[in-house]
Amino acid sequence: MKRFKTLTAVVLSCFFAVSAAGCGGSSSETEGEAAEEEAVEDAAEETETDEAEASAVTTVQDGLLIWGTNAAFEPYEYMEGDVVVGIDAEIADAIAEKLGLTAQVENMDFDAVIPSVTTGKVDIGLAGMTVNEERLNNVNFSDPYVEAGQAIIVPEGSDITSAADLEGKIVGVQRGTTGDEYVSTEENGIGAASVERFSNGPDAAQSLLTGKIDAIVLDNEPSKKIVANSTGLVVLDELLTSEEYAIAVAKENTALLDAINEALDELEESGELQEILDKYLNIEE
Ligand code: ARG
Repeated sequence: MKRFKTLTAVVLSCFFAVSAAGCGGSSSETEGEAAEEEAVEDAAEETETDEAEASAVTTVQDGLLIWGTNAAFEPYEYMEGDVVVGIDAEIADAIAEKLGLTAQVENMDFDAVIPSVTTGKVDIGLAGMTVNEERLNNVNFSDPYVEAGQAIIVPEGSDITSAADLEGKIVGVQRGTTGDEYVSTEENGIGAASVERFSNGPDAAQSLLTGKIDAIVLDNEPSKKIVANSTGLVVLDELLTSEEYAIAVAKENTALLDAINEALDELEESGELQEILDKYLNIEE
């Protein structure tokens, strides 16, 4: 955007330079020359304003876009050796690049992500995070970048074949997630006998494999990855919720929120966002 407007200013001043030259060479300042000067000044001012706008985005640490996440959520964020990779990692890099910043990840428990945003430990929460009312009380969310829903993972051959069968069962969830909230909320009528809260999905899967719990409720794409990465588990087709993931930003940092939304728009329009999603999601399913 900044580059575009700077270019416009240059083109404008060239245009006026050429038309002024066409006015002929009187030594006193002609009307044309005066208008030219004014236009060039205006254009220069506009460029300065744009530069001020770009640098108005402040982050926790100069030059960095620190994103808080819980990297046990393949395909959105997970460890490859000691590097955090996945959809959100690529989105963080792409947004940071557009803002002239370098993305730096902070890996933490999922329920620490929003507090880290509100206390200024990180700039953004980017963690396959669902927009919901409760979170909106504490942070702002960017425009959504993906749709998701809660799925049910069970051992192969389980007598649980739909959400209704969760009644009276021991259900595992990741602590502090929308899956946790859904299963723990009585109005949803799941009627689980108990809810076991784990630090992450893969830990819940271990417990499911050893028969300590009966099912897991977890986001759909991460559920598919857990099943693909282990033997003896399946994910049911039925989704319990319909959710949207977005990026959490501190309420007071509206300049950063705007810049992120602009970057997301550009990534969507250029097809880059879709490319990132296609790279990690099993589109044939
Ligand atoms: N979408 C769910 C939520 O917002 C789960 C997110 C879990 N993310 C993670 N990186 N572990 O609550």
